[in-house]
Amino acid sequence: MSKEKIKQAYEELAESYNALIDTKPHNAYYDRPNTLSLVGDVQGKSVLDAACGPGKYAEELMKKGAHVTGFDQSPKMIELAKQRNNAPNSFFVHDLSQPLDMFENASFDMVICALALHYLVDWNQTMQEFYRVLKPAGRLVISIEHPFFEYIYFKSNKYFEVEPVKCTWSGFGKPIEMHSYRRSLNDCITPLTDNGFLIEKILEPKPIEAFKQADPRHYEELNAFPAFMCFSAIKR
Ligand SMILES: C[S@@+](CC[C@H](N)C(=O)[O-])C[C@H]1O[C@@H](n2cnc3c(N)ncnc32)[C@H](O)[C@@H]1O
Repeated sequence: MSKEKIKQAYEELAESYNALIDTKPHNAYYDRPNTLSLVGDVQGKSVLDAACGPGKYAEELMKKGAHVTGFDQSPKMIELAKQRNNAPNSFFVHDLSQPLDMFENASFDMVICALALHYLVDWNQTMQEFYRVLKPAGRLVISIEHPFFEYIYFKSNKYFEVEPVKCTWSGFGKPIEMHSYRRSLNDCITPLTDNGFLIEKILEPKPIEAFKQADPRHYEELNAFPAFMCFSAIKR
């Protein structure tokens, strides 16, 4: 049920998300610079951008010389990713919770998955598939909503449960109801380590200076408490 609602919400959001993504402070000055700091040298590397949205990460990674393939469940997002990157054959519609049967084992040097895993009730199959399609010693880079932030924001009193939650987003034009799943820190890490990944780095990001001018109130808040969390992990 939530799955369809999430898909529908992103179909409705796609145009304004794409229009704002280059400069929206939480993405441009908080998530992306921090997550990309974990990426390293991707010149000539093959990268899978899982839940790529309108292809902004793909754009940044292509600028760094990577060969990027991206997928997202939202057909509108995929259309925008193709246009943004002038790469009609590099993006396709696919559900992150389903097997990546279109790819052989060991196809990619890196998988990146930014701000999307909280839309899945179960991360296990997704992590198994990320592991399978990565080359040996390939790297997984993810960003997620920080589990402690979500626990407070959603006023939870069931820390250890995977809880369906919802809130209203008003930063993309007309308000939109967004469903997702909140989980413990343990439930963010164990699906990676149980499926063969070695956690390389955990980053509790701080906003970059450009955030301050764009949105001083959230700049202060994010310097006091993190809203997101970034990880890199290696296929053992
Ligand atoms: C917050 S956006 C992030 C987009 C992109 N990764 C970025 O950071 O710019 C979340 C994306 O996840 C996608 N998404 C949500 N659930 C998904 C699923 N089950 N399979 C594939 N994509 C999904 C949405 O359609 C949306 O494009």
